[in-house]
Amino acid sequence: MALLAAFRVEQTDPQRFYSTLAADSVRTVGRYTRLAGSLVLDVGAGRAQFAQAFAAAGATYIALDVNERSVAEAKECVGTSLSVVGSGEQLPFTDATLDVAFASNVLEHVRQPTRLLDELVRVTRPGGLVVCAYTNWLSPWGGHETSPWHYLGAERAVRVYERRTGHAPKNQVGSTLFPVSISDGLRWAQGRPDAVLVDARPRYLPEWCRVFVRLPGVREVVTWNLLLVLRRTIGDSDQHHTGPQGIGGRVSASIGPGTLRRRNA
Ligand SMILES: C[S@@+](CC[C@H](N)C(=O)[O-])C[C@H]1O[C@@H](n2cnc3c(N)ncnc32)[C@H](O)[C@@H]1O
Repeated sequence: MALLAAFRVEQTDPQRFYSTLAADSVRTVGRYTRLAGSLVLDVGAGRAQFAQAFAAAGATYIALDVNERSVAEAKECVGTSLSVVGSGEQLPFTDATLDVAFASNVLEHVRQPTRLLDELVRVTRPGGLVVCAYTNWLSPWGGHETSPWHYLGAERAVRVYERRTGHAPKNQVGSTLFPVSISDGLRWAQGRPDAVLVDARPRYLPEWCRVFVRLPGVREVVTWNLLLVLRRTIGDSDQHHTGPQGIGGRVSASIGPGTLRRRNA
């Protein structure tokens, strides 16, 4: 609930908002895996508070974002040279290399959400964790700054927003915001042959609200933001990646030039 309170100050006190969200991210991922010593990729990393929080938890943090400033901030903050400007829909990392692939509030901002999700699984080592949280379109915050007018349709929501504020919204449906549903995410997660769904629950709501996710239709409105946690398993195509450590083995020690692969290199 502290997170919902933090949302109210996103515009007026971004430092507080992002620190709260970053601390929640570390707590959330830390519930499912040990962060100390882990190699964590944060796709759509956003602000430096995430770099600080993951590094403070002992993780080796890699930021990836389409936004150069985000990546520069992360590099400055935790000094890892692995952080990189790039797209979550085409990650510049070799298969099965990372302990954790994390994407917070990014899925609804990409044109091909399934492709981003597939990429998260691809770069995660067997035994590693994929953690993705996103706001679905029918969530009360689905239209982002145009909410709740998005319930009237994206175009009308923009008109209402412009009339009320005198300027265009930062997020535009079809270019920086794409409607995605809770059912879409669950269907994708349940259909992966090389990952098991460990958890699916409303990220910002109390524990008892996890039942919402089981209610078709209702879940699209009340979940608010869906957290999906998957553990990577061994697929046929991974056999050659596992080496002597196999499932659960840590590959963090293998960070090196091969971890970061520039596709056009
Ligand atoms: C709403 S912010 C989320 C930032 C942070 N993860 C959080 O939870 O607050 C979305 C971020 O995703 C980035 N982004 C948008 N499209 C992307 C893409 N295709 N690949 C990687 N990052 C992307 C944006 O630049 C922005 O930093």
